[in-house]
Amino acid sequence: MKLLEWANLKVVDSLKGKSLLTLFDFSKKEVSDLIHLAVSLKKLTKAGKCPPLLEGKTLGMIFEKHSTRTRISFEVGMKQLGGNGMFMHARDLQIGRGESVYDTGNVLSGYLDGIMIRANSHEMVKELAEHASIPVINGLTDIFHPCQALADILTIHEVKGYTAGLKIAYIGDGNNVAHSLVIAAAYIGMHIAVATPVGYEADEEIIQKAKTIALENGGSLFVSNDPVEAAINADVIYTDVWTSMGQEAEAEKRLADFKEFQINDALVANAKSNYMFLHCLPAHREEEVATSVIDGPNSYIFQQAENRLHAQKALLASVMA
Ligand code: CP
Ligand code: NVA
Repeated sequence: MKLLEWANLKVVDSLKGKSLLTLFDFSKKEVSDLIHLAVSLKKLTKAGKCPPLLEGKTLGMIFEKHSTRTRISFEVGMKQLGGNGMFMHARDLQIGRGESVYDTGNVLSGYLDGIMIRANSHEMVKELAEHASIPVINGLTDIFHPCQALADILTIHEVKGYTAGLKIAYIGDGNNVAHSLVIAAAYIGMHIAVATPVGYEADEEIIQKAKTIALENGGSLFVSNDPVEAAINADVIYTDVWTSMGQEAEAEKRLADFKEFQINDALVANAKSNYMFLHCLPAHREEEVATSVIDGPNSYIFQQAENRLHAQKALLASVMA
């Protein structure tokens, strides 16, 4: 408590002990409070004064898939908060040779204060959270990528100064990143347009739930198969890779199916002149995005990547404090 007062910080108390599997788990207020906490933590960190809110705590970080940003930002974030992040590749754990999720969740709960997991299957992460008595944070599954969306909203807030009422166009694959982005943007009351090729639409149930949330918050959500329609008048243009991890066998077909969905100069000409370009990274230049756009003056990809660190610190400090 003293530490918090000293730093003039308020962690999001209602999140203490909670897992984050999808942003549907959190309320609109909790998401917005996390963004504000992230802004404060970023300022303090830049001033070399990040408070050690998680002193003595350990976050176990389990990975079934590759990662640069998630792994490093969680590990550095824990260190900056005075704690410890421990990397574990799933194939090195007994779970990689068949130990049950039930046993793993129970055992790890005796050693750790939180688990961050990047997994192939969202169902497995749900099962882990059910059996762990410590918070479980989804660091990407086949369906969701909630930590990415927190960093995305933080970045829009920083660049534009506000978020409610802005138009965000997600153009590309209706994947894990798209799902989490629409939920976060709906909570904030943004106008969301999602354009995907036919057959690559986002999950209908997630879209319907996010649409209800967006409408409740003065925003809107529409989906189409037309990238131009989505890009018109957009304040933010967002894309992700066409082939996600685990889909490599489909890469060639996807290249053909997505070719009208590249974010290039002609497409962004439909957006507002001060639009921002975002991409969760890693990116494939000249596939989902033209080099002129991703490396152009409207691109905020590196600020967005850095913000993973600050947004996740807000999350860690709230659920693990
Ligand atoms: N955006 C993201 O999650 O990046 P990594 O795959 O490098 O963690
Ligand atoms: N949709 C991508 C995001 C990577 C951060 C994937 O799942 O591979």
